[in-house]
Amino acid sequence: MEPQIVEKKWVFPLIISSLVAIFLVATSFNMGLVSSMQTINSLFSIFPSRISVDQKDPVFVESKVLPPSPPPKSNIPRFAYLVSGSKGDLEKLWRTLRVLYHPLNQYVVHLDLESSAAERLELASRVENDTIFAKMGNVHMITKANMVTYRGPTMVSNTLHACAILLKKSKDWDWFINLSASDYPLMTQDDILFAFSSLNRSLNFIEHTSILGWKEDHRAKPLIIDPGLYLSTKSDIFFVTEKRELPTAFTLFTGSAWMVLSRAFVEYLIWGWDNLPRSLLMYYANFVSSPEGYFHTVICNSPEFAETAVNHDLHYITWDKPPKQHPHTLTLNDSNNLIRSNAPFARKFKKDDPVLDDIDSKLLHRKPGEFVQGGWCSGNPPCSEVGDPTRLRPGIGARKLARLMGRLVYSPKFKERQCR
Ligand SMILES: *[C@@H]1O[C@H](CO)[C@@H](O)[C@H](O)[C@H]1NC(C)=O
Ligand SMILES: *[C@@H]1O[C@H](CO)[C@@H](O)[C@H](O)[C@H]1NC(C)=O
Ligand SMILES: *[C@@H]1O[C@H](CO)[C@@H](O)[C@H](O)[C@H]1NC(C)=O
Ligand SMILES: *[C@@H]1O[C@H](CO)[C@@H](O)[C@H](O)[C@H]1NC(C)=O
Repeated sequence: MEPQIVEKKWVFPLIISSLVAIFLVATSFNMGLVSSMQTINSLFSIFPSRISVDQKDPVFVESKVLPPSPPPKSNIPRFAYLVSGSKGDLEKLWRTLRVLYHPLNQYVVHLDLESSAAERLELASRVENDTIFAKMGNVHMITKANMVTYRGPTMVSNTLHACAILLKKSKDWDWFINLSASDYPLMTQDDILFAFSSLNRSLNFIEHTSILGWKEDHRAKPLIIDPGLYLSTKSDIFFVTEKRELPTAFTLFTGSAWMVLSRAFVEYLIWGWDNLPRSLLMYYANFVSSPEGYFHTVICNSPEFAETAVNHDLHYITWDKPPKQHPHTLTLNDSNNLIRSNAPFARKFKKDDPVLDDIDSKLLHRKPGEFVQGGWCSGNPPCSEVGDPTRLRPGIGARKLARLMGRLVYSPKFKERQCR
């Protein structure tokens, strides 16, 4: 034992002294300081490059070959997704989850209490049995399902529940993204991660306005009770005969229920060191469609977060003519608009609608049932193993999203559209 250790201790000084000797010899033979420095650098580069392989640094050769140079590893963000569904949504949710998958992200999936136990068990076993999910351990299912009422505050509490789980599961994500089983991405994760890597991590994408319009009488003034808070069977919200006035202690905002929230804002909501998120949560307990108001009202009434609000929900949605209450179901007729859209997500879709196959083939280059191929994929068949997850292979989607960000974040109008 002893002699080996002694020998090892000698290896490094030996290499150093030989290099110094080579250096001295080279300079003394007047080969030129520059070229000998290069020699020494190239010799030394053996060591850092070996270390960097262990630390999974970006592959340097790649950055010279690929046109858009990948962001430095530490710059690649991570997303925390909530994908939720209800009765009969298992197949839709599973497809959306697989299309969204990237080893760097975190995922929480939830099928609410209205779905059958069999459906939930099936989802749990699929998550458990998937070799990649099992290996990376970044897909979590809420097994104790919540009762969720459409338009009710239980929807908000479900979203906050998922946020809390994600905060606990990983210290390592930058944005929370709320999706449903009827949503579908229009870009690969490599595209979205790439486009987000140059963004300020404090930005929140949340479409909002303080102009309530018809919502003032139909949403803000009525009082509702959500039976999902105390009944174990599903029933719709009901209205109380009393109405209330608009609040004067804070300004109401309303907007899209789809959002991309920064980690800092999610921590503020969940940990509640300021009382505003908590008291607004109680106010919204009796509000019609609270998911379309709670987050918006909190962010715009918190001075430290108001300036991080980007007025967009990053979704392609087509609405009925005002009152904009029901989004249209997208079909092949919307295909051209979807392909032209710069939005990373779209909704809503029917289960296995042909337009999804169209998106798969034209935008995501995905084969049925498989993951979307990205820089992380290795093995045969592709994506059967996880290679280097920090290697991104952005495509046209990244350019489209950068264009959208240019319009939203880097535009002089950014501040003008904020919390108005
Ligand atoms: C998951 O694995 C278990 C045990 O290997 C097996 O019994 C079960 O059928 C598998 N489920 C699915 C959905 O593949
Ligand atoms: C989150 O996603 C669900 C889809 O399941 C949606 O209905 C809800 O309104 C979204 N937003 C919030 C804030 O919960
Ligand atoms: C990101 O945005 C926040 C809030 O606007 C600002 O305080 C911070 O300096 C920005 N960070 C960087 C790195 O630009
Ligand atoms: C597409 O549009 C055409 C003409 O407007 C209509 O007849 C057809 O039903 C639509 N198809 C779908 C799938 O919505």
